[in-house]
Order: sequence, then structure tokens, then C-alpha cells
Amino acid sequence: MYRLLFRTVLSRMDAERAHHLATAWIALAARVPVLRTFLAAYLAPRRRALRTEALGLRMHGPFGLAAGFDKNATLIDGMAMLGFDHVETGTVTARPQPGNPGPRLFRLVPDRALVNRMGFNNDGSASVAARLARRAARGPAFRTTVGVNIGKTKAVPEAEAVADYVTSAERLAPYADYLVVNVSSPNTPGLRNLQAAEQLRPLLAAVREAADRTVPGRRVPLLVKIAPDLADEDVDAVADLALDLGLDGIIATNTTVARDGLGLTADPAVVAETGGLSGAPLKQRSLEVLRRLYERVGDRIVLVGVGGVEDAEDVWRRILAGATLVQGYSAFVYRGPLWCRSVHKGLAARLAASPHATLAEAVGADTRKATP
Ligand SMILES: Cc1cc2nc3c(=O)[nH]c(=O)nc-3n(C[C@H](O)[C@H](O)[C@H](O)COP(=O)(O)O)c2cc1C
Repeated sequence: MYRLLFRTVLSRMDAERAHHLATAWIALAARVPVLRTFLAAYLAPRRRALRTEALGLRMHGPFGLAAGFDKNATLIDGMAMLGFDHVETGTVTARPQPGNPGPRLFRLVPDRALVNRMGFNNDGSASVAARLARRAARGPAFRTTVGVNIGKTKAVPEAEAVADYVTSAERLAPYADYLVVNVSSPNTPGLRNLQAAEQLRPLLAAVREAADRTVPGRRVPLLVKIAPDLADEDVDAVADLALDLGLDGIIATNTTVARDGLGLTADPAVVAETGGLSGAPLKQRSLEVLRRLYERVGDRIVLVGVGGVEDAEDVWRRILAGATLVQGYSAFVYRGPLWCRSVHKGLAARLAASPHATLAEAVGADTRKATP
């Protein structure tokens, strides 16, 4: 049914327009109490076996929505209704900004991939914080885990990046179940330079301090999101820094500037577009980065696997590689509203058929086996 809708309607529209149309339906459905309860019962059935504890939080399962889909915290309940066990909102910047001019989102349908150069289009951290405050005040429709992903305002020079992130952290930490410092989007000039340890250390330390100062009664978990294009030694350096700073987790990975893994039929005009590639072609490298991180940090911090996750098998492989949480974005575009349901079902079946009693026990099992 969704495949038909995708083929006949959505794939013929500009990709960003299709996103807005689809998300308007989701948000609308989530506003009608009877409908959302009915849809959630079907699309997001809760399975005891999948219950997950990570970052000091209890979640219904390990599978969540990656950042960038819900830039402004308008879709949290809608995506929880569809079965995402956590929703990472953002990237949010200190100042509102329009992002890059369109078109800025492109599909590579046969490759099950996307290219985007959105450029952190968002309402700014003051507006998003106010929206999250209103959601908390009225009582959310679904009690789902909400991560907040923050990035640098484009107009702010690199030298003032720390203050920009701190402003967003101060505004958003009170509403975040966890906070993510995004230094890995390819679409904000210079942003990825912040991944270098000498830049990243003061940035993460300042955001940690800002979160602790603004939310004194609760330690808001802090994670960093990295690019798949980092050299292996730089992945190790981020892992070491994360341990050193007492960070709570690492999210691996963002989109790639590489164009590897595409089929011969990939539309050359889209392949040549500037921006980050996501979806199936990213699977291999994201998995490699995750494995490398797990070899380095083991169970000491939480790893979140993202990039090219398409089905239950992919989620299961990320868990076995070392991810406690797994996220997806691009495959939702191709698979539609039943996606989470099938992921949860397949994951529960894989766990039941495995030698592991719990998901927690399965985390990193493959990587541990490979590295005696
Ligand atoms: C259109 C689009 C916008 C994105 N925006 C963001 C963003 O604002 N912040 C971020 O950290 N990641 C962003 N991402 C990256 C995703 O969160 C994810 O890391 C990446 O797409 C790989 O996962 P996937 O292959 O499942 O899509 C975006 C991805 C896409 C496709």
C-alpha cells in the first residue's frame, strides 16, 4: 500500500514537499486521541523482550528516529505513534535560520538512498525550547524518550562556536532526555572541523557545564555525533576523548560526503549534488565505525548505531556490533509507516532465536568474539 503511494504520488513530488505532506498527515493523526491510540496499538505494540535501558533512561525498545526528520520538535508524538522508541529532535541552532536554498533534498530510489544539503533549517533554540515546554505542560500524548540535537548557527564564526552551542544547551537541556552535540553535518561550512580533539574537548566541556548549570537536579546525558568520513585514527581519538570527558555516548554516524556504494544506474545528476549521502550505501561504513568504537570503548559508554539501517536484521547487526540504541531516517522514506512495526517484530524474533537472554546481553557480542 505505502509502496504504491510512494511510487505513484510521493516519488513524483519534490522530496522535501513530499516530506512536508507526509509529516502533516502524521502530525494531524497524532492530534486526534482515538485515532492515535488506535494507530499506536497497531504500529507500536510494546514487547517486553525489547525493553531497553540506556543513558539512565528506560525505553520501550532500542530503535529510534535519527535527527533531521523532526527539526523543530513538532513530530515527537506522531513518530512515537508510528513506533519509534525514541525521537531525536533537531538539529537545532541558537538562532533561527532558513537553511540552504532548495531544492536541497534528493532521492536515489534504486539505491534506497538520499542526498541532502538542508543546512540546519530550523526555528532556533528559543522557539524549539518553548514548544517542548508547552508539550511538557499539557502532558505529552506519548511518554517517549526525547533527544535534542544541537548544532552551530551558520552565520556564527567558528571561533564563536562554543558560545553558540552553549546558548542552545542552556535553552534546551531542561527538556532533553539526552543532548547531542552535532559536529558532523557536511552542510554547515567548517562544522566538521570541530571533530578534531583540540576543538571538540572545550566544546563538549562547555556544553556539559551549561547543561549541569541549567538543570542542577538531573544529569542530562551528553552524546556527540560523528561523521563516517573520519579517518580511523580520528574515530579512535573521539572515543578516547569521550572516555576522558565522561561523555555518555557517541552516535555513529551522520551522512557521508563520499559517493561509494551506489549502483551503476544511480542518477549522475543527483550523485553530483553537493550534500550528505544517507541510506543503504552508508550501511557498511557506519557499521565499521561502530565496530571500531566498540573495540575502543566497550561497555563504558553508550553507542548509538545509525546509517543505512533498513530492517530488523540491520538493527540486530548493529546491536551485535556494539550499539545499545539504533536509529534510522532514510529507510522510513522508502518503507513508510509500517517500518517500525516490522523492525520490532523481526528484532524480537532474532533475539528469541539467539543465545542471548536480553538485548543488553547481545550488545557487542559479535565484536567481542572477533577481538579476543
Ligand atoms: C534530509 C536529512 C536531514 C538530516 N538532518 C540532520 C540533522 O539536522 N542533524 C543530524 O545530526 N543529522 C541529520 N541527518 C542525518 C541522519 O540523522 C542520519 O545520521 C543519517 O541520515 C544516516 O542515517 P540513515 O541512513 O538511516 O538515513 C539528516 C539526514 C537526512 C536524510
